[in-house]
Amino acid sequence: MSTVIFHDPQDDLGGKPVTGLPEAGMPVQDRRNRPLRDLRISVTDRCNFRCTYCMPREVFGKDHVFLPHSALLTFEEIAQVARIAVSLGVEKIRLTGGEPLLRKQIEVLVGMLAQLRTPQDKPVELTLTTNGTLLARKAQALADAGLSRVTVSLDALDEALFQRMSDSDVTAATVLAGIDAAARAGLAPVKVNMVVRKGMNEHEILPMARHFRGSGHILRFIEFMDVGNTNGWRMDEVMTGAQIIEQIATEFALQPVQPRYRGEVAARWTYADGAGEIGVITSVSQPFCGNCTRLRVSPEGRLFTCLFADHGHDLRGLLRTGASDEVLRQRMGGIWTQRDDHYSEQRGEAHRREHKIEMSYIGG
Ligand code: GTP
Ligand code: 5AD
Ligand code: SF4
Ligand code: SF4
Repeated sequence: MSTVIFHDPQDDLGGKPVTGLPEAGMPVQDRRNRPLRDLRISVTDRCNFRCTYCMPREVFGKDHVFLPHSALLTFEEIAQVARIAVSLGVEKIRLTGGEPLLRKQIEVLVGMLAQLRTPQDKPVELTLTTNGTLLARKAQALADAGLSRVTVSLDALDEALFQRMSDSDVTAATVLAGIDAAARAGLAPVKVNMVVRKGMNEHEILPMARHFRGSGHILRFIEFMDVGNTNGWRMDEVMTGAQIIEQIATEFALQPVQPRYRGEVAARWTYADGAGEIGVITSVSQPFCGNCTRLRVSPEGRLFTCLFADHGHDLRGLLRTGASDEVLRQRMGGIWTQRDDHYSEQRGEAHRREHKIEMSYIGG
């Protein structure tokens, strides 16, 4: 099986200047009046896990061809894209993968991005989503380089189930040690993401809630999504956020709380006894496209305006021909102003997409 190459049949912007783009330093808005606020940068398509819902081994096996190193954006190229995104309104940057800590010297990239400041001279919030396996080793270096916090994926505490879901021989205890090391290094509050797949790990909801209550970490339950083409998604495997909350409420009193910022992906709940907060990410049962301010960059420099997009917009070509910041700003701003994505609100037969990007390629 070879790496999927994304052609740009509908990508007709080229490097042409776009009319209607605000002046340099001014924020951009898309066709649904959503500003650009978040940049999610996938730094590698590789991962040391084979989660059954993300990189099933039948598809991502020994013969799978990953991107060669020369195809990946260099740290300098990533920093240039990030700098321009910040000039267009981005306030938060998240590094993803694959597994971002597999990218060599990732802390060097973190150090470069941590220097960025918004046009209002505020520091940019810099975070990272990881499977946690290398975190105990890397947390301090990442914090020293300027990372603000981390989000760690963990789908079960039960070791056998954890290994079955991640299709690896890493233990859940290793990930827990990574979470603790991150908190000790100051990458806090640590958020823990649990994808809930009915028939697989819903009986781990309560044990996970009990484990993280009072720890200072924020546990978030994610509805299983139909990202990519390889995870065999079915609606009857989705446990909704409402069902998850109902289950936790059988044991602990919960209170809903307001989002921390406009467009926050997780709906927040606190334990009534003050033992901290949890969140549910309801992209299937209650989509949040109306407030979606996220732009994604793939490892080899394609921009994706939606997690469910079937094509991206190449930037690497421009970067490697030495395009100026202004040309890149026109290109990136133009792509955002043309954006109309709202896939999760349209999900269903009429909007079926045959060639969606894979989660392991674009991060969450
Ligand atoms: P913080 O609030 O800064 O911690 O970020 P976040 O809530 O965006 O956290 P994170 O990046 O961990 O996102 C959590 C999960 O939500 C991702 O792994 C995805 O599964 C899902 N998600 C995030 N953004 C989107 C989005 O734009 N669309 C959809 N459908 N799902 C998303
Ligand atoms: N549905 C929901 N979440 C997913 N993730 C990966 N694949 C899916 C899916 N099909 C989550 C991972 C991780 C983040 C990057 O996205 O578990 O927390
Ligand atoms: Fe790797 Fe994360 Fe995908 Fe699991 S969900 S295979 S840890 S990228
Ligand atoms: Fe944003 Fe697309 Fe997710 Fe909707 S489905 S929230 S537009 S990334």
